[in-house]
Amino acid sequence: MENDWIRLDKVSLVRNRKTILEAIQWSVSPGDHWVVMGANGSGKTTLLQLLAGYLWPTRGNITVLGERFGHTDLRTLRKKIGWVGSFLQIQVPPSERPVDFIVSGKFASIGIFEQPAEDDYRHAYQVACRLRVDKILQSPYGVLSQGEKQRLLIARALMHNPQLVILDEPCAGLDLAAREQLLQILQDLGSSANSPTLIYVTHHLEEIVPIFTHTLLLKDGKILAQGTNEDILRSSLLQEAFGLAMEVVKDKGRYWAHIQADAVAKAFPREG
Ligand SMILES: Nc1ncnc2c1ncn2[C@@H]1O[C@H](COP(=O)(O)OP(=O)(O)OP(=O)(O)O)[C@@H](O)[C@H]1O
Ligand SMILES: [Mg+2]
Repeated sequence: MENDWIRLDKVSLVRNRKTILEAIQWSVSPGDHWVVMGANGSGKTTLLQLLAGYLWPTRGNITVLGERFGHTDLRTLRKKIGWVGSFLQIQVPPSERPVDFIVSGKFASIGIFEQPAEDDYRHAYQVACRLRVDKILQSPYGVLSQGEKQRLLIARALMHNPQLVILDEPCAGLDLAAREQLLQILQDLGSSANSPTLIYVTHHLEEIVPIFTHTLLLKDGKILAQGTNEDILRSSLLQEAFGLAMEVVKDKGRYWAHIQADAVAKAFPREG
């Protein structure tokens, strides 16, 4: 048990008398990268916040990177976790230099409160090249495009060589090409030697690139299904998760959902 990499054992979370997550039983083995899917409000972001120790479960036990919550220093653990979520972007001052934003990842803070070393800037530049944001390091953060900002967020998350990277809808708001570029970066990262474990939340099947081998499907705060993509990314299960009939097809290693207009009309009948 103590050697589990990531494990949630009968985890529930109740907030303001609402059960947001219920009886979550989930484990992630080292070397596997997981997708988390589910309709709006199904509990995905809340689940990620539990993993990073930003929320505490009402019931159950959580182990992350082999460390059981309650027996570990969460601040130290958080430094081993990279977080890529849009709420971070909201807190970045528009005048911040991207290079400082990346370096701040070392301290798991927004803004730099400790004196970075020369080496930190060298490392930031290497990470920036990997994420293909090296050309924009001197532009103020506020002028950057959504795609550039998202890649910067990932660069920042990688700055402290995390063992786990949590990505909450990183492709939201990206155009088709920017999305493919970001997915290619994730595919390269996930298949590299010593890759951090990646946990990726998305609503879009086509974003599931081949490094992601497993999916956790949430519905109304409960696990609807979990397992390998072959077992989970099926028409019937996704139909149940999203309440909409669809046909899931796999083509050249990627998944696509075909949705018919009559299925939408059936799921959402017009008034009158
Ligand atoms: N503090 C809270 N008190 C009451 N309800 C909450 C609280 N925090 C979250 N919720 C509710 O819990 C549910 C799950 O929220 P969560 O943000 O985890 O959903 P999600 O799956 O990430 O959705 P989305 O796809 O829209 O991002 C939502 O119905 C939300 O309104
Ligand atoms: Mg969310």
